[in-house]
Amino acid sequence: MKSYSRGLDRLIGEGAFVVLARARELEAQGRSIIHLEIGEPDFDTPQFIKDACVKYLQDHRYTHYSPSTGLREAREAYARYVSQTRGVPVSYDEVAITPGAKAIIFASLLALVDIGDEVILPNPAYPSYESAVRFVGGIPRFVPLLEDQGFELDVEYLKKQINSRTKAIVLNSPSNPTGGILSEETLKAIAEAAIEHDLWVLSDEIYSEIIYEGVHKSILSLPGMKERTVMVDGFSKTFAMTGWRLGYGVMPKDLVEHISLILNNMFSCANGFVQMSGIDALFGPRDETLKMVAEFKKRRDAIVDGLNDIPGVRCRKPSGAFYAFPNVSSFGKPSKWLARYLLDEAGVALLSGTDFGEFGEGYLRLSYANSLENIQEGLKRMREALAKLR
Ligand SMILES: Cc1ncc(COP(=O)(O)O)c(C=O)c1O
Repeated sequence: MKSYSRGLDRLIGEGAFVVLARARELEAQGRSIIHLEIGEPDFDTPQFIKDACVKYLQDHRYTHYSPSTGLREAREAYARYVSQTRGVPVSYDEVAITPGAKAIIFASLLALVDIGDEVILPNPAYPSYESAVRFVGGIPRFVPLLEDQGFELDVEYLKKQINSRTKAIVLNSPSNPTGGILSEETLKAIAEAAIEHDLWVLSDEIYSEIIYEGVHKSILSLPGMKERTVMVDGFSKTFAMTGWRLGYGVMPKDLVEHISLILNNMFSCANGFVQMSGIDALFGPRDETLKMVAEFKKRRDAIVDGLNDIPGVRCRKPSGAFYAFPNVSSFGKPSKWLARYLLDEAGVALLSGTDFGEFGEGYLRLSYANSLENIQEGLKRMREALAKLR
């Protein structure tokens, strides 16, 4: 009999891809679906980045293999960008470039976590963290993000989770799925704990440029943190480049060397011409990103107001990313059931809060990477379908 590895049982997929597949099935049957499930900008990659890519494609230097952690000139440029934006000097050999930010999450947890090691994770959170920790035999210890605390990490609770087996803390600010931003005070307290207990911090900052209030703060910039931080960022969200598959990590040089081996075994390297296009993206005009963020802000206000107008629904205003995370516990149904009901009954594709962990129970996640018109239609359909449950 054929059998598969037990490691497969420990991998967790993204709920968004499952719901998208079901939504497409319904569309194939002729149903109209409003897509609020998938986390990717509905904007196109800025033209100047595409033009740059064509230019690099025509240059034979960038259509071959590159070193596993990236082309030297790209690593230098990304390091320069991080030095400028995070206010801490970074050199090229502290940068690893990968096909998407997700690859850095997986490779760094593979490089850091041994069987039985514990990793502190926010919950609800992007599912890749828990998946990678479990896959390598690590044990996740969750710190709930609580709505009444503005979805901040409860640092006192976090500290109580630390023990002799704790290896790392994962942070994600702005957060998927809550849109919450960690305050400087929280980051400082986490940095203190990480230094005291000699822990790694994986700081996922992929939404660092999609912020509506305040400014992005990175734990990487705090004293004593550079030597223990893996900072993850990428191009998927800021430049609407999800399909290009380009991300990077900033970490101590010796960790880059270990990760290089993992990347070498998995991908060999990221596309050379895509890595080079990333330089143009980082240092080119930001008009289109700013326009996109301004549009997201309008949609955020519309979706949050609209959700709060639906009897039984309560939604905080997220400060970053492009997700609304309404509380729907008043309907007395499991979130998974509600998400499926809204898809099947109302043709609104969205995610259950539990797609991001057990503390997502009682919530739904809606991506507002869709037009205002579709968002309004989705809200109208939700209002009608949810009214039937009351
Ligand atoms: C928090 C978070 N980190 C990482 C990623 C993955 O980004 P990439 O497309 O660069 O792999 C996502 C994508 O949804 C995300 O939400």
